[in-house]
Amino acid sequence: MTIQPSSRSEIAPFRVMEVFEAAERRAATGAEVVRLEVGQPLTAAPKGVIERAHQVLDSDRLGYASSHGIVELRAAIATHYADWYGLEVDPHRVVVTVGASGGFTLAFLAAFDIGDRVALAVPGYPCYRNALEALGAQVVPLMTTLDDNFQPTIKLLEKAYAEGPLDGLVITSPSNPTGTMLDDDMLASIVAWCDERGIKVVSDEIYHGLTYGTAATTALAHSDDVLVVNSFSKYFSMTGWRLGWLVVPENFVSPVTKFAANLLLGPQTLSQMAGIAAFDCHEELQGHLVRYAHNRQILLDGLRSAGFDRLAPAEGAFYVYADISDIAESSTDLCAQWLSELGIAATPGTDFDPYNGEQYVRFSFCGGTDAVERGVELLTSWQNARR
Ligand SMILES: Cc1ncc(COP(=O)(O)O)c(C=O)c1O
Repeated sequence: MTIQPSSRSEIAPFRVMEVFEAAERRAATGAEVVRLEVGQPLTAAPKGVIERAHQVLDSDRLGYASSHGIVELRAAIATHYADWYGLEVDPHRVVVTVGASGGFTLAFLAAFDIGDRVALAVPGYPCYRNALEALGAQVVPLMTTLDDNFQPTIKLLEKAYAEGPLDGLVITSPSNPTGTMLDDDMLASIVAWCDERGIKVVSDEIYHGLTYGTAATTALAHSDDVLVVNSFSKYFSMTGWRLGWLVVPENFVSPVTKFAANLLLGPQTLSQMAGIAAFDCHEELQGHLVRYAHNRQILLDGLRSAGFDRLAPAEGAFYVYADISDIAESSTDLCAQWLSELGIAATPGTDFDPYNGEQYVRFSFCGGTDAVERGVELLTSWQNARR
């Protein structure tokens, strides 16, 4: 008898990776590909991290490290909260993880039971929804729009709560795919609203440090009773090092580290030891931020003058989320057409929004300025040819 995968294996794919692979296949043929789909920095890890990694390789045997995370890295992360947010965080509450992905998976395992109702903004990062469903939680979509800055509002939460009590809420500010942010007052009200009802907040703060106006504030500024997820992948430019962290309430430290030990043993020792140096590399990292800000302006201006005028404001992260419903009925088809005819790789909104995603395309501006300029040039001529 042929054995079958579990029903949990029906998990939805992460389609961004499929677009990425289609772009790679086209690039392998030697054809031009303008990469506006990837959500990963073009740059390598900061020099200080690479130097430290070489030293560690030469001097350490690289055995297993603590599932909680090595003490020096947890201390450096706690200091980061003092430096960036003026907050005192006990290093014991910091758990080092395999990227933000490893972090939110551990957070979900420790926070939610089968059948729990967990709300999240749509559009939003698809893996929360997919991971929560695989764990047996019930995902409650908060249907956000440009009018509410594509972020949860108390009104949306009240509406969802009226349909059935909520057990959790996942927030992401700045958000992927919209780049929009919750301002500090809104963040405070949401955290307080959840606190009054015993709703567990998981705040993914992976795009902190990548903002183009007001700096992002952490949910920890409003409560110690939240689970904060963060990562070295974006601001720190270290995607492939698979390193992130959680800051959790004291009573979650043991459950989270037990899950980490049982499921993963822990994050890569080399990444942990070298990652400590990342906090001394802000000068280099600020240089990347200057390029992102420049690219962002070129993309926003270029898209608007090419006639894409319904754009989320891109207050942070490195994405512009564009409403293309006046141009095409299906962003999936439009992105496929752009890739084959123009060589532009962009991501359809369907991954981030299973309901209205066909109306949106996500453009990423974390690549080179030349790619963003070329993308704008090609899209402008394409629009001109259609008119
Ligand atoms: C909002 C959000 N959270 C988490 C992740 C995954 O990050 P990591 O590489 O740290 O696992 C991403 C990656 O794009 C993301 O956009």
